[in-house]
Amino acid sequence: MSELLTRIETQQGRRLTPMETFDITAARETRLSRLLMVFITTGLVFMVFPGTFLGVWNLLAISSRRAPGSVSAAWVQAHGHAQIFGWIGTFILGIGFYSIPKLRRLNWFALSAAWTSWVFWTAGVAMRWLTGVYEWQWRIWLPVSAVLELTAFLIFFRSVSGHRPADSRKKTLDAWVFVVIAGSVGLMLTLVVNLGAAFFLAFRGASPEFPAAFDQRFLVLETWGFLVPFVWGFSAKWLPVFLGLRPVRDRVLLGAVAVNTAGVIAALAGWITAAVWLLAGAIMAAIYALRLFEQPERPAKVKGVHTSFPVFIRSAYAWAVIAAALGVWAAVAPDSQGIWGASRHALTVGFLAMMVFGIGQRLLPAFAGMRLLFSTKLMFAAMFLLTAGCFLRVGSEILAYQAFLRSAWTWLPVSAITEMTAVTIFAVNLIATFSRRRQAA
Ligand code: HEM
Repeated sequence: MSELLTRIETQQGRRLTPMETFDITAARETRLSRLLMVFITTGLVFMVFPGTFLGVWNLLAISSRRAPGSVSAAWVQAHGHAQIFGWIGTFILGIGFYSIPKLRRLNWFALSAAWTSWVFWTAGVAMRWLTGVYEWQWRIWLPVSAVLELTAFLIFFRSVSGHRPADSRKKTLDAWVFVVIAGSVGLMLTLVVNLGAAFFLAFRGASPEFPAAFDQRFLVLETWGFLVPFVWGFSAKWLPVFLGLRPVRDRVLLGAVAVNTAGVIAALAGWITAAVWLLAGAIMAAIYALRLFEQPERPAKVKGVHTSFPVFIRSAYAWAVIAAALGVWAAVAPDSQGIWGASRHALTVGFLAMMVFGIGQRLLPAFAGMRLLFSTKLMFAAMFLLTAGCFLRVGSEILAYQAFLRSAWTWLPVSAITEMTAVTIFAVNLIATFSRRRQAA
């Protein structure tokens, strides 16, 4: 920012008045906040309608027929893609663009690149969902959607690759930056594999859905290979501040990323037993590195959020451990579809969605032009209902799908409605926050 002010001062041949400096700073923040809010709102729309509503619809159909494989795989995959890429992916791109110094200097080219990336990404993800659900001209639109998504990411990658440490005296990047880079590489690989699979299906496939065996491996790549390292990176950056934790054990965290990567590679190679143990080891190492369950150094910063925020953040990591443990069980149990499903849900909803709920409602109001969160009570309601829904779903999916307890089929719709209520409250709280007046100039 100071570079921009110096440049303007040089052009004008005089020092800027405090009022002029203020106007320039305010213009910069307004443009960046607008960009961020558009990305976040887009993510929320994907989360609620193509993501959650379709997920609920699928689950109601499965539980009424009491048969896990009774809904179209294309619909299940359309739901998963909307949640992973449409919701969380769009959030990550928006926060990434918001944090780039080039944009902070009001570089016109960088700003237009961010908007172009948003157009390509939104069109690509929306097209993918429509293709999965309606299958209209899917041989054309499936590869086109994959090309659009990858192009949007490459624009993002080019913009962020010039990122330098905020403190120019620092010679090396912080550990959390390497972890986020690992997540970005995971995202790029996911999109490249998605593109290859889309072209393969367009020429050789009978429908737009990924074959089951390939889809299971692809799921490991998009969750453990892309989203999990991103969340660890954000955790290493923000949780010591928000929860008052002791400094992160950087080397252990980087080791956790390496073990996690080995787990993802093992899963892609089909070595499932090795993969589940490596992923379980990686999450335990990450928790040790982040010192989440150790005595904090300072009190948590809960101003502006609900005071239960630290409990829910820790519960998210507990869900990640449950997800990994269920993965280990599923790998040894025969016919373990319900246990795999429960493991995936514990990870996507219990861990990933809960972390987005927590960190999102803590950070985004400030990023969106120094606003205050609309309601801390709604924040609590969303996180509480998400936990209750996830608990019901993970439990009943194992009991019902594995035929341990027939009555568990009737709990599944309750879990779906509970989680749908949670995500709707989260979306309402953020949209209401964005509609509020800014707090400070
Ligand atoms: C209201 C909440 C949700 C409901 C009712 C729901 C429902 C479902 C259902 C019924 C399936 C099919 C597999 C199975 O029977 O377990 C599924 C799969 C999946 N869900 Fe969800 N889900 C919800 C939330 C989420 C969230 C928040 C995410 C991600 C952040 C997510 C990601 C996925 C993924 C990746 C799959 C696998 C897709 C595939 O097989 O390719 N879901 N979900």
